[in-house]
This record gives sequence, C-alpha cells and structure tokens, in this order.
Amino acid sequence: MKSIWQTEKLIPLPKPEPLRGTCKADVAVVGAGMAGILTAYELQRRGARVVVLDRGRVGGGVTGGTTAKITSQHRLIYDRLIRGFGEEKAAQYAQANQRAVRQYAALVESKGIDCAFERRPAFVYAKGNTEKLEKELQAANRLGIPATLTDRTELPFSVAGALCFPDQAQFSPLRFLYALAKELKVYENTPVWNIEGSIVTFRGGKIRAQAVVVATHYPILNSPGYYFLRMHQQRSYVVALSGAPVLEGMYIDQEESGLSFRQAGGLLLLGGAGHRTGKNTEGGHYGQLIRHAGILYPQSVVQAMWSAQDCITVDGVPFIGEYAASMPHVFVATGFNKWGMTGCMAASAFLADRITGLKNACAPVFSPRRFPVRASAGKLTVDGAEAVAGLGKQVLHQPVRTLDDLAPGHGGIVRHDGKKVGAYKDEEGRVFLVSTRCPHLGCELRWNPEEKTWDCPCHGSRFDYRGRLLDTPARRGTVNRRAAISNGIVKNK
Ligand SMILES: Cc1cc2nc3c(=O)[nH]c(=O)nc-3n(C[C@H](O)[C@H](O)[C@H](O)COP(=O)(O)OP(=O)(O)OC[C@H]3O[C@@H](n4cnc5c(N)ncnc54)[C@H](O)[C@@H]3O)c2cc1C
Ligand code: FES
Repeated sequence: MKSIWQTEKLIPLPKPEPLRGTCKADVAVVGAGMAGILTAYELQRRGARVVVLDRGRVGGGVTGGTTAKITSQHRLIYDRLIRGFGEEKAAQYAQANQRAVRQYAALVESKGIDCAFERRPAFVYAKGNTEKLEKELQAANRLGIPATLTDRTELPFSVAGALCFPDQAQFSPLRFLYALAKELKVYENTPVWNIEGSIVTFRGGKIRAQAVVVATHYPILNSPGYYFLRMHQQRSYVVALSGAPVLEGMYIDQEESGLSFRQAGGLLLLGGAGHRTGKNTEGGHYGQLIRHAGILYPQSVVQAMWSAQDCITVDGVPFIGEYAASMPHVFVATGFNKWGMTGCMAASAFLADRITGLKNACAPVFSPRRFPVRASAGKLTVDGAEAVAGLGKQVLHQPVRTLDDLAPGHGGIVRHDGKKVGAYKDEEGRVFLVSTRCPHLGCELRWNPEEKTWDCPCHGSRFDYRGRLLDTPARRGTVNRRAAISNGIVKNK
C-alpha cells in the first residue's frame, strides 16, 4: 500500500540507470533515502565528487513511508538522555536536532523547494499522569529548548497535559528529497554487495572511493560493526483521513502504544499500532487505527493507509560515525528510532565534517562506538532473547499442520514432503512455498496475515509471499526453489 507521498506529483528524475563497470569518486554514498541524499548533497556542496547508489529507487525505503514531522521532540527523550548519558551529551543531542530543524528551513528557503514545508509546534501529550512530562520539561529547558507545558490541545479527547516544542516543522518528504536528488549523480537499481577498503562492489561493477557512507537504513555489512546485536526494527502504521477537523500542531502520545497526529494538506495522518517487526497481533494493526479513527473522527473517511519500519537502537540514540575501528574510511548513519528527519540532517552535517576533516562538537553522543551501559542494558537483554528465540525456533519448531490445513487466502508454517516450509495459499488455491529460514542470520520467519508477508522477528527482514526481499538487512529473497509441487499448485518463480 502506497503512502500519500508516493502518490504525489514529484519532480521527474532522470530515467533510473544502474551503474555498470568501474569508476572513481571522492565519496560513494550507499542508499538514496533521506540520510544518503542529504549527506551526498552536503558533501557535493563542499566540493566533493560524490556518487550515490541505491538498490531500488530514490526514496523507495522508509523515507517514502514516514510521517515527516521535523522536530527535536522525540517523544520523551531528554530526561532519559541526561540520566543515561550525562548532561553534556544530552545537550549535543538536543542542539544537533534543533539545528537540523533550522537547516531544513534554510535549505527549503534558499533553494525554493516546493515541498509543503510548514512551521508547526510539536506536542507530546499525556492522558493520565503528567509526571513524565514535567521531568521532560525540566530536562528540555536545561538543555536550551524553549519547551512549555499546557493542558489545552486541539485533540478530540481531553489530556492531562501536553509538552510543547515551538517552531518545529512538517513537510512532504519525497518532494524535498527529489529536489536535492536531481542535483546529484544517483544510480538507481544498483544493489551494493560489499565494501572492502576503499572498494565498493555492486551488481555490475566497482567504485574506488576515498570515503564510503553506508546510509542503507539497516547497515549492509554484518561484520565488522555488528549492528544487528544493537538494533531491531519496529513497524508502524498510518491512515490518512479526509473529513477530520484541521490540526495546527503535530501530536504524539507519551506512551509508545499511543497515537500520532499531523495534518498534511486536507488530510489528517493518524499513526500508531507500532510493534517489533515479526510480532503480529490478532485483529490487525490497520484495523486498530481504523477503529480509533471511527471513534475520534466519526465523520472521517480513510483515503490511504500504509506501514513502514525503522531501526531502534538499544539506547534510543542513532549510530552516526565510523562504521568500525577497522574501517576508518567507511561511515554509517542508522538507528533513527523513528525520528530520522532531524536525525538524517544531523548525520549529513557530522559525516560531511568528518570526511572533510572538520571537528563537530555534537558528534560524540552519536558515535557508533559508544556503549553507555546504564542506557542500554534492559533493551540489550530483550534483543538478545529475541534473537536466541528466533534461532531456536528455526531448529526446534516442528509444525504439525500441512498444506491441506491452510484455507484459501491464508499462510503459515507447515510440513510438506517431510520438511518444514512456509506456505501461502491464494484465493484460487495456488500455493507459494518459501524457506522459513531468514537468509540474514537464520532465524525462523513468521507469517504476517495482514500484509501477506514473511517477517523476521530477529532484525526485521521481510519478504513477500513468493519469498522476494522487501526489507533488509537480508540481502536476498527466501524462495524455496527445491519445492516440487503439482496438483494445481504452482511452483515458485
Ligand atoms: C511509520 C513511520 C513514521 C515515521 N515518522 C517520522 C516522523 O514523523 N519524523 C521523523 O523524524 N522520523 C520519522 N520516521 C523515521 C524516518 O522516516 C526514518 O528514520 C528515515 O526515513 C530513515 O531514512 P534512511 O535514509 O536512513 O532510510 P531509507 O529511507 O530506508 O533509505 C535507505 C536506502 O538504502 C537503500 N539500500 C538498502 N540496501 C542497499 C544496498 N545493499 N545497496 C544499495 N542501496 C541500498 C534502500 O533502497 C533505501 O532507498 C518514521 C518512521 C516510520 C517507520
Ligand atoms: S535473522 Fe536477522 S533479519 Fe532475520
């Protein structure tokens, strides 16, 4: 399902061209989402020869499915940062994200980008106790953010309080991204396989570059770096409603299980129902949001809905900097914790400074080499336990169901020809088999009945029912090519 950004009229980019052969560049940027395009743009502005490679299309990743609030208000973070990282690093985080909001405004204005950029206040609201908001208010003020607390909002329910960050912003992310991408050398449909020293290997050729930026959402190399030990992915859902009253502000519940609101032209975007990728609940996530919409805005009509996923780090702070100690010329920007609009802008400044030899005072808090135990311990345990469970299931879980037990339109893990396989039976009774082993690191995939996909609970790779790759970190599909099937059942292609 496409987002409203993906169906907007966008500036036409040149016909997608894969890169072939061998070439040279000062910097190779892998990934043409918000992080890759902003970083490439900033480096080119400073005089570097930059080449951008994407395995698909510009903005075809998470950036195409964002809600595009540009804000330093990342739900409740500053009180936690002061406690986990100390005040100096918390201030680096606050300043980098506040500056990012201003940088968007300056770029949009100086280049005259037509992307519905609007200054809006951002609110995080509490329905019950305001204790956490009060702590966040104090923390934000200590770090120089002019936040205020109010109990009045435009929301269709009463709140106990709402913390306001003034002068934040919202925009149409793909219109903005395309305006920058058209000034860059971007090669689409060019998946990168490997990075070794200064050589980037992609399907059909190689680039020799003095520096490489990995902006692939999930980092493409498992080792070194081992980012899969420090991040998982969370999926979230959005419905776009017509007929709802217009909201001036952007809103988010202080609770992770709550809702997010923002206006986009004549549509109200209602977001939420987030969960760890692979952990699907009964009743459906879109269904949850549509039920909320029906109660809060009974006159509204759903005009579009979509979902996307982002990388969640164990301590809630992105990884921006050197990919690993053994790869000093390779850099990474990932783990934006669903706040990548300002995060990607901050990344573009740090990485451009780092690559052009400048010091950046806000960089230390984002260093991929940090490890503040106080801020990470709990989530590390949960992530580790999920990976162990996913791997264990692949080895130990033996299904009792067979293909005959699957009703048309349903999927699941079954026994077939004495082996465990993932199967989907379409409405016509055709069956599509896949391997249940995730090609990333081998965890057992789970069937997602709502999106008819196979999702990995370990690090969030996703595949369609034919086994074709939808979301990384896996680099290939999971088709079970050995499945020999007959009697009206089709073979996978
Ligand atoms: C539902 C949802 C709502 C959100 N709302 C907000 C919000 O309101 N405000 C906010 O600040 N943030 C928000 N976020 C987060 C934000 O959208 C993301 O953090 C941000 O878009 C990430 O950008 P990116 O460039 O890192 O990733 P992407 O946009 O995914 O770009 C990565 C690119 O790398 C390419 N790639 C991958 N592997 C390879 C390879 N091997 N070779 C070549 N190319 C490759 C992909 O094709 C892709 O184009 C939201 C996230 C979600 C899921
Ligand atoms: S094992 Fe890592 S994404 Fe599946």
